[in-house]
Amino acid sequence: MKLQNNMNKDQINLLLQKMTLEEKAGQATQLPTRYFDIKESQLTGTENKLGITENQKWQAGSILGKLDARSMRSLQEENLKRSRLKIPMMFMTDIIHGYQTIFPIPLAMACSFNEELAEKSARTAAKEGSAAGYQVTFSPMVDIVIDPRWGRVIESFGEDKKLNADMGRAMVRGYQGEDLLAPDTLAACVKHFAAYGKVEGGRDYNAADVSEYTLQNQYFPPFKACIDAGAKLVMAAFQAVNGTPATASKWLLQDKLRKELAFMGIVLSDWGAVTELIRHGVAQDEYDAGELALSAGIQIEMATCSVMKNIHKYVELEPGIELLLDQAVEKILTLKAELGLFEDPFRGVDESRERRELRSKEKKYVAWETAIESAVLLENNGVLPLKKETPLILAGPYADSQELLGPWSVDGIIEDTVSIKQGVINKGGKIVQVLPLDFEEISNKDMDKVLMASEKAEIAVLAIGEPQLWSGEAGSRSTIELPKAQCILVQKLYQKGIKVVVLLLNGRPLDLRPIQPYADAILEMWYPGTEGGNAAADLLFGNVNPSGHLAMSFPYGSGQIPVHYNMGATGRPKELLTSEKRYKSQYLDIPNEPLYAFGYGLSYTEFKIELSGEIKKDSDHRYMVPVKVTNTGKVAGKAVVQIYIHKHKSMVARPVKELAAYKKLALQPGEDVCTEIALEKEIWNYWIPNVGWTKESGNYTIMIESDSQHYIHCNLMVD
Ligand code: NOJ
Repeated sequence: MKLQNNMNKDQINLLLQKMTLEEKAGQATQLPTRYFDIKESQLTGTENKLGITENQKWQAGSILGKLDARSMRSLQEENLKRSRLKIPMMFMTDIIHGYQTIFPIPLAMACSFNEELAEKSARTAAKEGSAAGYQVTFSPMVDIVIDPRWGRVIESFGEDKKLNADMGRAMVRGYQGEDLLAPDTLAACVKHFAAYGKVEGGRDYNAADVSEYTLQNQYFPPFKACIDAGAKLVMAAFQAVNGTPATASKWLLQDKLRKELAFMGIVLSDWGAVTELIRHGVAQDEYDAGELALSAGIQIEMATCSVMKNIHKYVELEPGIELLLDQAVEKILTLKAELGLFEDPFRGVDESRERRELRSKEKKYVAWETAIESAVLLENNGVLPLKKETPLILAGPYADSQELLGPWSVDGIIEDTVSIKQGVINKGGKIVQVLPLDFEEISNKDMDKVLMASEKAEIAVLAIGEPQLWSGEAGSRSTIELPKAQCILVQKLYQKGIKVVVLLLNGRPLDLRPIQPYADAILEMWYPGTEGGNAAADLLFGNVNPSGHLAMSFPYGSGQIPVHYNMGATGRPKELLTSEKRYKSQYLDIPNEPLYAFGYGLSYTEFKIELSGEIKKDSDHRYMVPVKVTNTGKVAGKAVVQIYIHKHKSMVARPVKELAAYKKLALQPGEDVCTEIALEKEIWNYWIPNVGWTKESGNYTIMIESDSQHYIHCNLMVD
């Protein structure tokens, strides 16, 4: 059904002028699909928690949640029948790390240090998601995370702003493609503005107290990168930031997001966050909440209807509010036009396209590639890679499980998921026995079974970790320990004298001290997605070489939280005050350093990194760092060369080091590569209290590393 040609600005304004106040409030409202079950679409009785009429419901400008090509078509048809001005609906959802083909969790993806791969995964997800009828995804999440107790660290790209910015930008590019008119794209919604990753105590939804210094220098830059890459929407965070809930914060949503970060797209609330302003204690009732949110800059209210219900009264008492609503609707209609919805409200969606696109072979290949590059080898005393003919037992809660998709993969197809057992079989491994175990309780009988089985094998491969629901939204924990029973399992096998290879499947950095001394190798697989088992087996057998590096530090223990590589400089640094015993920045009982720091990751080969010349400026005012990287080992591999900076004599006590650039390079054994790594001119800018963004010229230490343990350094005078 062709409605009208794609709309230009004037036509959008004309349409806006024809709209009634109710129709406009409808566009600014987003409702979950469950209210739109076509067969039982009546909003009656107790079901009608929203407190709106059936007619009001159909005014909603967008829908979020479960969909497929067929239901999208019937919903859109029904909407167009009812919509006086024939305004198409927009369909949104959380496609976070894949739609039906699932890629590793975002925290894992960041460990790949491979933006191209992140972009490819988003492109692939957009092809699947758009074929099922969606037009917008609530991704990427670029909240910096420094507290692994917070379950949502799984959705983030870790503790560093550059990595969050690069990965976020790549995902936006991947989802949105060259042109949103292409029906296989999705508009990206970057979230959660701002400082959601800073919730106090790592407890989800809790308040965040964070200085503007930290917001500007750490939390905002990844959002800026996504905005500059063209992200069409921004979601406000649930929680209060310095006392004001983000949903009601003019300072955040207007002064910072609009004016400073120059965001031109749509700002939407998180689920129910508008009426949660009542529980936050800043709104008296729903009426108050809607007004606060709208005035602060919320343009789509998700899952509640305060604006829809009260718009007449708002405008009556404060005519200026209609202007805010008009601005919101203009942006919403513009996005619908950019998506081509006025021209084809179905965006080419039908069941045959859906069948073709979903779960295809090429998509699974991307899932395999991303799982391979996201895995991080944390320990290896030479036991890995394994020989295929080596007899092994495979034990642990994830030994024979397809639950490898991780949180935020509701549409992922569990039956497609390759378990670790299946992966090892597929790759020709010799499994003597598979012993699935519980996460928290391993009976003496089960433990004995494992120990007995191990006598017939040379290696015990343990697929252990956290149950999936221990991370993700509302998945906060007070400690980051591995369940005790699993630690005992590792220890007992070690005592038995069998070699132990640990495959970790989890959604957050964990305290690995209880297993580290007893494991011959630890391979962090995270939640690796649909192809997880194949990827794990390929890495175990050395068909490919691990190349991931940590995007988030693994603390020495829960008491060290937060610990991150870029802690602020102190006047009493432990490492410099070696003769001083007490009065320095240290713990009396544990080291300052995390167990595994950001940037760390081993390989089956070794790389030598040298500074191969002088750092010079190019014509774009970038400083080019010439490096020579040699694969000194016996197998091919990928090195991640990381460059960190530290400013001497800054106006503020800056972090001890900050990631400035990195490059992933593939090298054959014995091969060397000479390359230049650019230090972009923006990296010298820093936000200084009472000054604002300023270029910090002067002397810097430049540190060049491959795994944060080995580095070379030199000085650079930045003019
Ligand atoms: C709540 C989450 O905080 C947000 O990230 C998500 O996009 C929405 N729910 C919609 O599902």
